[in-house]
Amino acid sequence: MQEPERKSERQMNRKIPIAKPNLGREEEEAVKEVLESGFLVQGEKTKKFEQKFAEYIGVEHAIAVANGTIALDVTLKALKLGPGDEVITSAFSFVSSGNCILFQRAKPVFADINPRTFNIDPSDVAEKITAKTKALIPVHIFGQPAEMDALKEIAEDKGIAVVEDAAQAHGAEYKGQKAGSLGDVGCFSFYATKNMTTGEGGMITTNDQKLARKARLLRNHGQSHKYHHDTLGYNYRMTEFCAAIGSVQLKKLDEINEKRRENAKLLTNGIRKFHGLTPPYVEKDVKHVFHQYVVRVEDNYPRDRGELADRLTEKGVGVAVHYPIPIYRQPLYLELGYGEKMCPNTEESCRRVLSLPVHPLVGKKDIKYMVDALKNISW
Ligand SMILES: Cc1ncc(COP(=O)(O)O)c(C=O)c1O
Repeated sequence: MQEPERKSERQMNRKIPIAKPNLGREEEEAVKEVLESGFLVQGEKTKKFEQKFAEYIGVEHAIAVANGTIALDVTLKALKLGPGDEVITSAFSFVSSGNCILFQRAKPVFADINPRTFNIDPSDVAEKITAKTKALIPVHIFGQPAEMDALKEIAEDKGIAVVEDAAQAHGAEYKGQKAGSLGDVGCFSFYATKNMTTGEGGMITTNDQKLARKARLLRNHGQSHKYHHDTLGYNYRMTEFCAAIGSVQLKKLDEINEKRRENAKLLTNGIRKFHGLTPPYVEKDVKHVFHQYVVRVEDNYPRDRGELADRLTEKGVGVAVHYPIPIYRQPLYLELGYGEKMCPNTEESCRRVLSLPVHPLVGKKDIKYMVDALKNISW
């Protein structure tokens, strides 16, 4: 009789989380410095972070805010969107991509995606444009830029604004140009799981001076100078703690992204061998920064997605489904009258996708472990 396979203690206890912030001593020192300075909110550290971020993205202006949802909200407010306006976006995204439109009492219109890249499909965008369309929000989903040339051509033709939801695409490039500098405005999130983080945080990037000024007013009570309030604004400011961490993270971003890209390459080399598991497709002319590494579980895979997810979880591999439900079928949207299965590729992707750990704290041994686990499960 064959001896049961004896796994090493380390292998049995291996835990590979789906996400883990990459923070160290330098971030700790940066936070301490803020504490000691006594100046805690939207000061010099924030200004410095904005300048560095604008330079990195290759735009004139960067406006730091409290999170990515607010970056989108402020942008759409600065664009003066309101009731009666339509905005086209993808339903295969985090809910903020649609909610930022609802905040303006405008109407989200969902275009379908390309099932290979999961990004919004320009041909469906063109079909969904009406006389009421005022803006287009392509989401650079999972860190891969959307088809910006085609989308910009449609937008220019119709005279509508392009707001990039770059919440997952720090450092990603399209034809050598950074995400966040491709449309009229870019919106970033620095949430804890993102490629660079400030815990919570967001940034708006643009070359449009007027829009930048409006965004700066809106995020700080509409205040043009001390106790002079020109417009109805909010308190959407970034703290100095977040800005200080952000500057350190920005310095590390290219290195972090390279590690993600290297991990993705190793995962793809391993996963390619398993029938019915399709690794992520990367377009030519883009730099994909793998915020998420998302495989498709096809019909000819021997297990369904739920079973695969459970088996990987049992083996200590953190997995997630980004995203299980299209935005238009979230309860909030059902109440608003959405709900038809209006985007077939989005529906299918929601059923098939599974994200595997790709973050920079995943090492080569972890990848080998994941590929071995998949080999075992894929029998
Ligand atoms: C595509 C997308 N848009 C917007 C957001 C909103 O960002 P935040 O969580 O910082 O509000 C996120 C964050 O998860 C996101 O992934």
